[in-house]
Amino acid sequence: MHSRPTWLVVGGAGYIGSHVVRGLRAAGHAAVVLDDLSTGSRGRLPADVEFVHASLLDPRLDAVLSALADRRSIDGVVHLAAKKSVPESVAVPLYYYEQNVGGSVALLRAATAAGIGRVLYSSSAAVYGETSAEPVTEDDPTLPTSPYGETKLAGEWVVRRHAEATGLRWAALRYFNVAGSASERLADRGATNLVPLVMRAAEAGEPLSVFGDDWPTPDGTCLRDYVHVEDLADAHVAAAEALLDHARPSPGVLNVGRNEPTSVLDVIAAAERVLDAPVPYRIAPRRRGDPACVVADASRIAKVLDWRASRDVLDMLRR
Ligand code: WQD
Repeated sequence: MHSRPTWLVVGGAGYIGSHVVRGLRAAGHAAVVLDDLSTGSRGRLPADVEFVHASLLDPRLDAVLSALADRRSIDGVVHLAAKKSVPESVAVPLYYYEQNVGGSVALLRAATAAGIGRVLYSSSAAVYGETSAEPVTEDDPTLPTSPYGETKLAGEWVVRRHAEATGLRWAALRYFNVAGSASERLADRGATNLVPLVMRAAEAGEPLSVFGDDWPTPDGTCLRDYVHVEDLADAHVAAAEALLDHARPSPGVLNVGRNEPTSVLDVIAAAERVLDAPVPYRIAPRRRGDPACVVADASRIAKVLDWRASRDVLDMLRR
């Protein structure tokens, strides 16, 4: 193995992808980014990162990847390119299947044709659907409740089956609730997730709607497992290094969470501590499709990759 492994980071101009690029480079790897810029932006990336503007559904993808692999040795693909809005996936499921599943199939075909033998796939806790009150393990049933979750699960199947057939080395990281940023420039703009909405409520003075306070949880609000995007990026680096080490088996499917049940009111209280100011909120009806509790059992990733999160919800809110 040459000294500086190079990863093709697909979807590298997005919120999580740009943090993965940053993490890989900090760990001494190189990254080439491929992105269609439908939601990502070039400004998230350092100027010296080679950038390929292309869509996974472009019929020329095979040629693009083969040309790239002829020019630079590419050790593996980190595949983060996907549509990720749960409600949008309910409204336009065909679009989500086409983009997320179709995109993954096209990428695997092109990567294999270009001789690239390692894939690190972005999956989601959305593959579990309605979970029990217990932390979920990777062996628990996968019963996604949205087309978004289905496309993420189908992507795992496609990667695993292709790996069985071809010897591809692979890992799939199931992200829990990702928040925070490494810098102002890399923050998740226009997000509809709880952490940015809490900060926006505090800044604008407009009350946040808390979706239900009558859930079967200790304080009546939903429990989630929040993970800092920089810890998530470190998990990608650890998985990438495992893929490079052929003495180790492929990591397979791994939860990326903290095993730390955190309620909506906990997030609000943490924000009040960070801001030293009140966060206005009101109790609103439950949101359709919300599970009461989604928390990771994170023991497998600790064992397989020796990864554990080092940042907490306060760190996510500070950024
Ligand atoms: C978190 C908690 C809400 C907004 C989603 C996707 C999941 C993954 C991550 C990946 C919930 C509550 C929220 C608000 C609130 N996607 N909430 N008021 O739904 O856990 O996960 O994002 O790409 O697949 O489903 O995240 O941030 O929307 O909500 O009370 O205004 O905050 O009910 O309990 P969620 P979220």
